[in-house]
Amino acid sequence: MADLQKIWQQAYDIVPAQLERVKEVKCAATAFNTNIDAVVKISGKRLSKLAKSVSLSFEDLQNKKTRLQTPRDVVRGIIKCFTLGIAEEWLCEDKKIYEWMRDNLRYDRLQMGGQAGIVANVLAVLGVQKVCAHTNSHPRLQAEQFLNMPNLLAVDEQGIPCCACALNRQNDEPLVHWIIEFDAGDVFEFGDGEYVCPKANRFIATYDTANIELKINDGFLQYLNRNGFDYLILSGYHNLTAGRGGLERIAATIPLINEWKRLCPKGIIHLELASTQDKAVRLAILRDLAPLVHSVGMNDREALDALEVLNPQMFAALIKKDLHAADLWQILLELKAKIHTPRMQLHFYGMYLTLQDKNFAITPEAEKRGMMLAATVAASKAGLGNIEKSENLLWAQGQEIGQRAVDNLQNLADFLHNPEFVVSGLTTYENMDLIAVPTILVDKPKTLVGMGDTISSVSLVGAR
Ligand code: GLC
Repeated sequence: MADLQKIWQQAYDIVPAQLERVKEVKCAATAFNTNIDAVVKISGKRLSKLAKSVSLSFEDLQNKKTRLQTPRDVVRGIIKCFTLGIAEEWLCEDKKIYEWMRDNLRYDRLQMGGQAGIVANVLAVLGVQKVCAHTNSHPRLQAEQFLNMPNLLAVDEQGIPCCACALNRQNDEPLVHWIIEFDAGDVFEFGDGEYVCPKANRFIATYDTANIELKINDGFLQYLNRNGFDYLILSGYHNLTAGRGGLERIAATIPLINEWKRLCPKGIIHLELASTQDKAVRLAILRDLAPLVHSVGMNDREALDALEVLNPQMFAALIKKDLHAADLWQILLELKAKIHTPRMQLHFYGMYLTLQDKNFAITPEAEKRGMMLAATVAASKAGLGNIEKSENLLWAQGQEIGQRAVDNLQNLADFLHNPEFVVSGLTTYENMDLIAVPTILVDKPKTLVGMGDTISSVSLVGAR
């Protein structure tokens, strides 16, 4: 193993102690989107059969619409993500499409879905003393996706908190999103052509009557106003559209965020960006919400999407490039200059970058520890398929830091002309602190959905 890998591996030795420290956190809340994910792994062969069954043509594949109006659109979305190795989420508003997916795609398993739900499970298993998740539909099927833990709560109709896995609002409709995963290297045949999937990823087909309207549970608001929070993780804006009143829904949450800041001046509010198709909605999230919160999290694709609406010239120059760590750093710097959120974190394959104001409430050293904890927990999730039990959280502890990950950091250190940075992961830039860590890499991840949500929330709450 090369020296740098060894140095970083030693730095990761603090991770088990860091996990212990998460137990000091008194309360966290997560909002707004909680749903049920129906996960199915699809092979190239099955995809070819599906394409035939809906009589998909070459012309259909040229269609650029990202709405699910017919079963053909569902198959077209899967093919797009499969052949490009990318992740996208498209919406359907017609229950018939949902029924078609249920009957024709079926699923391998149900699991917790939505940023708020996924993060609530992760923070509870990590040991945060009390975690409350926002749900706007909570029938038994939704309750079953919550871990059975006494520190994991949701609110009933009266705003009274109870164990999230025991709540059963019988009249609520289950909100099921289809997560269609595929493997790198698998082959899809269509006509005379063969298409190899370049990267394991997923296509999400969402039928959801509540989350896509950002319906808010009043009981949750009452709970939050009464109990406060140390950390509040927000997400769920990404499925809004301007055509369905999305901009108004965003505007309606501005006074809520201001009120939470007034009630909990020490609490940290984090916004997870998530992949947002509607550009007007994307711009409103970045322009109106991101500057209000303390922290924003995103992956490389979401960072590029943000750049597209905030600096189209820079976006046009970068979109055709194979992005390296130094490019991503420049994107992050530009987003920070445009949005002004005190703390911004960008995660991508092999590396996490945090850029924050000098006087931010969390020190750079604590950030680095949180990021290494997050990298370990994320690798455990990728390697095992889930982190539902606390004994699984550190499964990846001690595994090698990827060579590619260290190369990323070297690339950035060279760009910054700062040889010390590649060893410490800490530096200052103008009036800001930059923190970077190379991560553990898992060759054949068992699952990818929810990975970004896990990384962002663990690195924030674990930064102590
Ligand atoms: C989106 C999807 C949800 C999925 C989540 C994973 O919120 O709507 O189904 O669980 O992303 O990050």
